[in-house]
Amino acid sequence: MNFFRILYCIVIMFISVCKSQPDPIEISQMTKKKYCGDNLSKTLSTVCRGNYNTLSKKTDEAAEVSEDHPDLSPALPTNLQHIPLQFEVVPSQVLIKNSENFYKLMNKRRSVRNLSSRPVPKEVIYNIVKTAGTSPSGAHTEPWTFAVIESMDMKEKIRAIIEGEEETNYKQRMSKTWTTDLKPLKTYWIKPYLTKAPYLILVFKQMYGVKSDGSKKLHYYNEQSLSIAVGFLLAAIHNAGLYTVTTTPLNCGPSIRSLLNRPSSEKLVFLFPVGFPADNCLVPDLHRKPLSEIMVEY
Ligand SMILES: Cc1cc2nc3c(=O)[nH]c(=O)nc-3n(C[C@H](O)[C@H](O)[C@H](O)COP(=O)(O)O)c2cc1C
Repeated sequence: MNFFRILYCIVIMFISVCKSQPDPIEISQMTKKKYCGDNLSKTLSTVCRGNYNTLSKKTDEAAEVSEDHPDLSPALPTNLQHIPLQFEVVPSQVLIKNSENFYKLMNKRRSVRNLSSRPVPKEVIYNIVKTAGTSPSGAHTEPWTFAVIESMDMKEKIRAIIEGEEETNYKQRMSKTWTTDLKPLKTYWIKPYLTKAPYLILVFKQMYGVKSDGSKKLHYYNEQSLSIAVGFLLAAIHNAGLYTVTTTPLNCGPSIRSLLNRPSSEKLVFLFPVGFPADNCLVPDLHRKPLSEIMVEY
């Protein structure tokens, strides 16, 4: 029944669009409301904007980009200037050398779960986070907050939350296959690195922001933008000479968010303990897929 109503609305909308030619956004909003009522018109908005998944599954992302009250003023200044790009053409030999050197550097990156408490200058952490902040983001929304934890009291509280949840995760929530796959990596719910590391960097995804006029700013592709920024963060940590392990604390988000007083628009996605490896630190003897297995050429 609903299908026929949607079909009817689409046909009516097309007829309206063909009859006159004002602004298409205005048309779709006016006609949808007129012929389909409020609820169906919202559903059609979702379909028209390509957010098909949100129809069947109401995810965080659907809530993030819902446009119940569309605000058609851009988040960036309307008169944004376009300036000349500063760049230099690098000779091929230098390109090859640069890319090779960077690959060699990054190939030495390893996840380290046994960190030392040796101090790290705070300036390094600032530079690492600044590097992450140079990441591209959907419509330049920069949907990230990096919470840097140095206080031992805070680290202990975070560790207590994570170890408490992780014990339940390992014993009850994670599948047998998952915990079996993790066994060779020797990861457990006891995580001394959370208090050993001189710094923890917690990365929050901002599901939406606020414009200067107080209205809601949509953060398109915030998940992808955040993941790219985290890639930059990892590269910056490694380039500085420090180590970390990527962690995604399962079910700890709300408690840690309230501990750190972060707003409900932010969701904890990653936690990185950052520091030097402990003396005699061991890492699993893993091997990376060769180029032929990760690249296809056309
Ligand atoms: C999304 C993601 C989540 C991860 N979560 C954890 C984790 O919770 N605990 C952990 O010890 N390692 C975690 N890791 C680290 C992986 O186990 C590690 O990257 C992998 O074993 C490869 O080792 P390498 O980083 O030394 O190359 C995670 C990595 C990624 C990318």
